[in-house]
Amino acid sequence: MRLGSGAFAASCVAIEVLGVAIFLRGFFPAPVRSSSRTEHRAEPPAPEPAAGARSNWTKLPPPLFNKVVIVLIDALRDDFVFGSKGVKYMPYTSYLVEKGASHSFVAEAKPPTVTMPRIKALMTGSLPGFVDVIRNLNSPALLEDSVIRQAKAAGKRVIFYGDETWVKLFPKHFVEYDGTTSFFVSDYTEVDDNVTRHLDTVLKRGDWDMLILHYLGLDHIGHISGPNSPLIGRKLSEMDSILMKIHTSLMSKERETLSPSLLVLCGDHGMSETGSHGASSTEEVSTPLILISSSFERRPGDIRHPKRVQQTDLAATLAIGLGLPIPKDSVGSLLFPVVEGKPVREQLRFLHLNTVQLSKLLQENMPSYEKDPGFEQFKMAERLHGNWVKLHLEENRSDVLLSLGTKVLRQYLGALKTLSLSLSTQVAQFSPCSSSAPHRRCAEGLTWKFLCGLLCFPCSFIWYS
Ligand SMILES: *[C@@H]1O[C@H](CO)[C@@H](O)[C@H](O)[C@H]1NC(C)=O
Ligand SMILES: *[C@@H]1O[C@H](CO)[C@@H](O)[C@H](O)[C@H]1NC(C)=O
Ligand SMILES: *[C@@H]1O[C@H](CO)[C@@H](O)[C@H](O)[C@H]1NC(C)=O
Repeated sequence: MRLGSGAFAASCVAIEVLGVAIFLRGFFPAPVRSSSRTEHRAEPPAPEPAAGARSNWTKLPPPLFNKVVIVLIDALRDDFVFGSKGVKYMPYTSYLVEKGASHSFVAEAKPPTVTMPRIKALMTGSLPGFVDVIRNLNSPALLEDSVIRQAKAAGKRVIFYGDETWVKLFPKHFVEYDGTTSFFVSDYTEVDDNVTRHLDTVLKRGDWDMLILHYLGLDHIGHISGPNSPLIGRKLSEMDSILMKIHTSLMSKERETLSPSLLVLCGDHGMSETGSHGASSTEEVSTPLILISSSFERRPGDIRHPKRVQQTDLAATLAIGLGLPIPKDSVGSLLFPVVEGKPVREQLRFLHLNTVQLSKLLQENMPSYEKDPGFEQFKMAERLHGNWVKLHLEENRSDVLLSLGTKVLRQYLGALKTLSLSLSTQVAQFSPCSSSAPHRRCAEGLTWKFLCGLLCFPCSFIWYS
């Protein structure tokens, strides 16, 4: 009898543990990631497909930009730049958006719209999961592959000023940094002055490859007095003059070095009508993303409706811009306008590298990847690409080459879109109650929770009595 009740109790404990495990499994996302993530071996890049011909494009293409500056303004909502506030308070930026050599997008941030996961999305191109939360309890440092890690591995010098979250995420990656604390939300002056005070000296120096600035003031104003406060306009004007200072300095440097640089203006998340953020309303997820470089064509001055892209697309774009491998867990796709001005052979090379990286990630996360429409599109594009390169190397310059080139390009862009979507929904499926997840999944999670409770309760009752 004693043995019997002991065994019964043991099975109760087992059921409880199992129940909790099932609950956690169902309730938290299993992130999509590369199996080789912990090793960070440098894999050789995929060579250019050439359908049997001999192509010597086996290495990564050289960088498109000599220097990259990222200006991240916390809680910068899309309409602060593209709307009437932008016209009024950010005249220089508005001019660049409308008539300058730039490409503008509205980058969609996935919830939770809070700073740390958004920085991760921007720099790794991946979507975070529960595992990261557990991992981050003992070590806040980011373990995933990221643009910053790749830049450091390639010997690039990265400098950072701003929100100290970055310093925690990338502890040994910056050759120079100054972290500001976001602890005092009531302060919206010193947090930004502490960043700006370094600008004059750092812009004069040429000994860096990437400069990242994270301004917190705007977010703090949002929290104190909301998006319609008069303080917002003043802050936007301040940010506009900072952007002008950086842009002017980069342009004058370019005249000496004759190699283009890239200036990126972005937000991490937006802010709601009450000035808060964290959830998934349009105001919270819509951020501006503006890429500025003299290597782009000037805009004709007509756009006011930038294309919607994903925040995770920046990582792949930056990697290609800096001549680095795309971070392994990135689910984003290259923002194509950035390479539009390049010769067709180079455009196809960049698209190929990005699709290879995405389809590898798909292979590692989906057993039936071969049936995925994105994977099929990729295989088809790669085959056509090989034919194109073969004709190109044979110096065939007929119309056949031209129309084939256009076809391959379209095929790659379609493949990128489908692959990127497959990988992102793969994540969403595991994250039951996120806004983008199917409701079925959410209901499932809750059902499991209920069932576990049902199982656990009588067990616990007998066990304790
Ligand atoms: C490939 O070969 C061509 C002609 O031989 C040469 O001009 C070019 O620089 C080579 N490219 C690379 C990436 O080695
Ligand atoms: C700004 O810098 C000063 C001096 O380095 C420091 O004492 C202060 O805490 C910094 N402020 C913030 C908000 O980080
Ligand atoms: C170019 O390639 C096409 C298709 O293979 C072929 O029909 C055409 O004759 C070639 N033209 C030249 C000039 O080699």
